[in-house]
Formats: sequence, structure tokens, C-alpha cells
Amino acid sequence: MDSGYLIECASLLLRWMHVIFAIAWIGSSFYFIWLDNSLKPPVDPELIAKGVGGELWAVHGGGFYNPQKYLLAPKKLPDELHWFKWESYSTWLSGFFLMSTLYYSQAGVYMIDANSAIRTPGAAVLVGIATLVIGWVAYDILCRLLFTRSQLLFGVIYYAFVVLVGFVLCHLLSGRAAFLHVGAMIATTMSANVFFWIIPGQKKMVAAMRAGQTPDPIHGKRGKQRSVHNNYLSLPVIFCMLSNHYGFTYSGELPWLTLAIILLAAALTRHFFNLRHKGIYKWQYPLAGLALLAVVLVWHAPKALPAAQASAEPAKPAATTLADIRPIIDSRCIECHSEKPTKMPTAPNGLKFDTDAVVRANAPKIYQQVVQLKAMPLGNLTGITDAERAQIGRWFEGGAK
Ligand code: HEC
Repeated sequence: MDSGYLIECASLLLRWMHVIFAIAWIGSSFYFIWLDNSLKPPVDPELIAKGVGGELWAVHGGGFYNPQKYLLAPKKLPDELHWFKWESYSTWLSGFFLMSTLYYSQAGVYMIDANSAIRTPGAAVLVGIATLVIGWVAYDILCRLLFTRSQLLFGVIYYAFVVLVGFVLCHLLSGRAAFLHVGAMIATTMSANVFFWIIPGQKKMVAAMRAGQTPDPIHGKRGKQRSVHNNYLSLPVIFCMLSNHYGFTYSGELPWLTLAIILLAAALTRHFFNLRHKGIYKWQYPLAGLALLAVVLVWHAPKALPAAQASAEPAKPAATTLADIRPIIDSRCIECHSEKPTKMPTAPNGLKFDTDAVVRANAPKIYQQVVQLKAMPLGNLTGITDAERAQIGRWFEGGAK
């Protein structure tokens, strides 16, 4: 079987799994934060005597549920305990394999662009993997240093660190690889929190109780600190993972600043939901988040300038036909968008511009991607010029004949 087709199949299956695992993980994280913030102290003396510190009644799927949280732990542990860990590990594993299939095996196309400082695929992959490791080590040191300090202070310092990583990556790699790796770095940190701290801490607590000792509350506190961080990081990570489909975010002016603003908006929005679970409505947070997003959207809106200039020109250049832009398509697009692409395993999005019919049928998309958003050619790997973009623009505006 064709190797390009195999990569396409692997990517489909991995992406599908990755999204499913991530829903299971982040869904349970959202649920537990909501549950924790919504618990009410029990009134039933029996529950209080059992050591229950908070409880809640809920109805879901035709049944009534009454989760109870113990202040420290029940007097006797049941034999069977559910552990929430594979949701996280499987999300990380599927994500890493997906990133390897798409980015690391095609680093020359996806991780490097006309402006990236790194020029070889091998070096780009090294930078990518190093980012994941450095991100975790730096976070972990910061967490230990600030364990007993304000978590707001922690948040401010960690945010500055993430922005710095984004800044450096946007200079070293293509914008889309930089955004994806900031997301992968944060997501790796979240999974490492579960693997290195939350689960081992819980294991120590359970072992102490099974041995008849009182567990050290420090394990619970550490686990809680990191679990709350994971919760705040979830929305920023999801943006980074989706950003690759929205070229204007990573290929516009100052992409690192765009990323910094959007990540802040995402964390502020999460903060609103966390407070809301406690019955506190601080609308200033999501409104500030929306305002920040509005700044980004307005900032990157395609500029009307070239069109205005064109109409001010005394003599309009002769209308352009497909025959006039065919050489541009052949030299700038065909390496990826054709029956037999040379830069990619298969034609992306199934777009093969070998025939005129396909080019005409996709004229609005071509105009949007090449002229308005400048997202194509990908990373401008084929070196399209502004004059050529303008010519494609005239072809489309003249009716795409
Ligand atoms: C280096 C490879 C490469 C080159 C060169 C390239 N593209 Fe693409 N193109 C892609 C990839 C990959 C995608 C899939 C979308 C994505 O991953 O961002 C894509 C997607 C598209 C889309 C679909 C966008 C959508 O939302 O459906 C259009 C239209 C497009 N390219 C047009 C062009 C045109 C026109 C050129 C030449 C001027 C070109 N591309 C050159 C790689 C390339």
C-alpha cells in the first residue's frame, strides 16, 4: 500500500482516539472540579460521624446520585477503588504518536517555514522534544518553590514562562509548529502531574491507610495543587491544539503575542467557571477574555488596503484568466496539491490542482487562503511573491474565469 495513504490512515485513527481520550480526561477533570466546588457540608449526624466533609445530590440519566467527600478518608477503605489515570496517559500517548506521525515525520514541511531560524528537519524535531522536557522540569521546580505561596503568584510566573517559550519557538520554528508545541508542552506537564505526583501521592495515602496509619495530608494537598493547575491549563491547551486549523492566528504579525493573549483569555474564562461552581458570578473574567479575543480578531482581520489602492490606480491591469495564473499554481502549489505530490504524502484536504476544473471549483477557497489569509502556500515553502498573490487576487475578483 502507498506510504502516503498509510500516514493518512494512521493520522485519522490517532486523531480520533486522541480526541476521545482527551474528552474522557478533561471531562472528568471538569466534573471533579465542579463537584468539589459544589459540595455542601452534610447535616445528617451519621454522615458527620463518618467523617464526610461535603456531599451533593444530583440527578442524571434517570438516576439519583449522592457523592460524598471525606475530610481526609473513610475509616475503612473499600477493597475496590477507581483510579483516574488512564484517561490522562492515553491522551498523552495518542497525542505524542499523532504529533510524530504528522510533524516529526514531515518536519521539513510542517515545522520549518520561510522565516524560521531552524533550517533542518532533525534540529526542528530536537527543539520540539526538548520543549516538552524543559517545560515539565521548569514547571515542576516552580511548583515546589511556590507550594506554600499564593497560587496567583504561581500563575503569573508560569504564564510569563509559557509566553517566553512561545516567543522563542515562534522564532525557531514555523508558527504552526510553535503553537502546537506550546500546547504539547503544557499538556505534557498536565500528564506528568498525574503520573509523577497525583497518582503516587494517592498510592502513598492508600498504602498508609491499608497499614492502619493516618495518611500524611501533604500528599492530598500536593495532588490538589496540581489538579487545580491542570484545570486552568485545559482551555489554553485545547486552543493550541485547534490553532493549526486557523492560519491567521499563527501566521499573522507577532504570532507569539497573539498566542499570549489567547491563552490569557482562555485561563480567565476557566476561572469564571470555577468560581461559578461556588455560586460566585464574576462576569468581569469572561468579559475580559472576550475583549482580549476581540482584540486578536480585529487585529488580524484582512487589511482592506490593497483593494483600495488598486481601485485608486488609474488604469486597472487587464483581467487575469486561469491561463495567466496556471504557472503560479504549477510552481507554488503542485508540489503539495496534486495527484502525485512531492512535498507531502497525499494531497492535503484532497485538493489536487492538476486540472483547471478543480482550480476553478475551489476559487473562493484559494482566494481566501492565498490572498486574504496568506496561509497558503504552507509556510510559504514554495516562495510565492506578493505580486503573484495579487495576480491570483485579480483572477478571482475578475470572476475566476
Ligand atoms: C508545502 C505544502 C503546501 C503547499 C506548497 C501549498 N499547500 Fe495548500 N495546503 C497544505 C496543507 C497541509 C493543507 C491542509 C490545511 C492545513 O493543514 O492547514 C492545505 C490546505 C489548502 C486549502 C484548503 C483550506 C481549507 O480550509 O479547506 C487550500 C484552498 C489551499 N491549501 C490552497 C493552496 C494554494 C492555492 C497553494 C499554492 C499557491 C497551496 N495551497 C500550496 C499544504 C500546502
